[in-house]
Amino acid sequence: MATPIELAKQVSGYSTTQVAQLQRLIRTWGLLADLALGDVLVAAPTTADPEKYIVLANVRASTATTIYTHDPIGDRHRAENRPLVHEAFLSGELRRGVVDLGPHYPEGRAEVLAAPLKLDGETIGVVLRERRVFDRELLLLEQTYLDLSDRLMQMVADGYFPFIGANEPQYGAPRVGDGLLVLDKDRKVVFQSPNAVSALHRLGIHRTATSHRVDDIGLDDSFVRTAFAMRVGVTQEIERRNVTVTTRCLPIISNGEIDGGFILMRDVSELKRRDRLLLSKDATIREIHHRVKNNLQTISSLLRLQARRVESEEGKFALNESVRRIGAIAIVHETLANDASEDATGDDAPFEDVARPLIRLIEEGLQRPENPIRFKLVGEAGRLPLIRSMPLAVVLTELLQNVVDHAFPPSCVPEEGRIVTVAFDGDDDDLIVSVSDNGQGPPIGFDFAEARGLGLTLVHTFVTAELNGTISMVRGDGPDEAPGTSTILKFPRTWEDRVLGPAIDG
Ligand SMILES: Nc1ncnc2c1ncn2[C@@H]1O[C@H](COP(=O)(O)OP(=O)(O)O)[C@@H](O)[C@H]1O
Ligand SMILES: [Mg+2]
Repeated sequence: MATPIELAKQVSGYSTTQVAQLQRLIRTWGLLADLALGDVLVAAPTTADPEKYIVLANVRASTATTIYTHDPIGDRHRAENRPLVHEAFLSGELRRGVVDLGPHYPEGRAEVLAAPLKLDGETIGVVLRERRVFDRELLLLEQTYLDLSDRLMQMVADGYFPFIGANEPQYGAPRVGDGLLVLDKDRKVVFQSPNAVSALHRLGIHRTATSHRVDDIGLDDSFVRTAFAMRVGVTQEIERRNVTVTTRCLPIISNGEIDGGFILMRDVSELKRRDRLLLSKDATIREIHHRVKNNLQTISSLLRLQARRVESEEGKFALNESVRRIGAIAIVHETLANDASEDATGDDAPFEDVARPLIRLIEEGLQRPENPIRFKLVGEAGRLPLIRSMPLAVVLTELLQNVVDHAFPPSCVPEEGRIVTVAFDGDDDDLIVSVSDNGQGPPIGFDFAEARGLGLTLVHTFVTAELNGTISMVRGDGPDEAPGTSTILKFPRTWEDRVLGPAIDG
């Protein structure tokens, strides 16, 4: 399914500046549709056949029902079947009429207004406003909408709309239904919608706005003056006590003169409050990671104290191994607590930021400073969520510790020195992590699947059960005296549909 921009470029041969104009229109046209009480579409002739039009984009109103139950993007129409479109394009002027929609549309007939879409005086497409023929009298509010819609469509045909260089609101762009004030050319209010009255009340303004300028009723109207002077849409956020209202003023330009305008206003206090809450939620998650890390550090100090008192070497060793494993997990929490990057959620972090301190942890535990091992980190792992980085940190620690413990007996000193490389590779879906050393290699006849040491058992369990991945550990292809060992694991970055086994009662 092609996007509006792709269609415009590929089927209608739009240039970059023409595409930019189409994008400006699309960015603001929810407003056009809402005021139109109907659908708005944009069509352009195809380069292959200028008598044929293709629908590039459409938008439905939030204020009325649509006549398009299917997705009209990409629909093609012959010029003779859409005479209003063709005439508006050729003449560069508005065309209006009631058309029969044909057998596929339950609405039967539609009121159509076709406005040429201009760029620097040249017509580049046609903006269509289509709505069902109303069989009842319109409410005052609806009439006001339609009147504004007519004036905006005229501005499209005159090349004044969409505005070039208008600033877009940051918080929830106000829509027509959120609150509407219509202004005359002297900036006096001639119409206020009920929701606008409510928004003003929330700001503490209880006087009626009708036939006053908004600054007369106590609302700074510099944004209106700017909009009128600059002839663009201008947004302003008004904050009073705990209430925030976004106001957006659009000028109406007729025959080259400012002929009034309108203000859309929306109470965004709730949105803002939720945003702040989200911000502080991230901070809370970080704080929790920080505390978990502290607790883990306390646990490992206790174990270390105990290790010192234990008589047997085996007991000491086991306790110290546990200290190391807990340290690896603490590093993951510490990284998450400290990750201050812009896209940080508190629940994921770049794995390099975990791997680096992990390597440092292993280096610190190295017993033989006279024969150092060099640790290298290559490639990028990217961000990993906690449910991935935690098991991976445990696995990596075991593999690195094994290099320290087993790869380099005193006799094994390769020419280039003792090196272990941790490499990250893969794509958006899978991450590949390899740990390779240039040591003596695994024992002859070693079979990873059969390995029963606690370290490799943990590695195996974490890779298959926690990471849903695969692993292989092979003898490298270095010289006989130092062939090296290479461990490669691969697992999906996310594991969305992880199925937990059935719960067993009791
Ligand atoms: N990088 C390596 N180089 C050489 N041998 C290794 C390497 N990694 C693991 N091994 C072999 O695999 C065995 C099992 O490792 P592991 O399960 O971690 O238990 P442990 O480290 O307690 O011996 C080791 O005893 C060793 O013989
Ligand atoms: Mg081990």
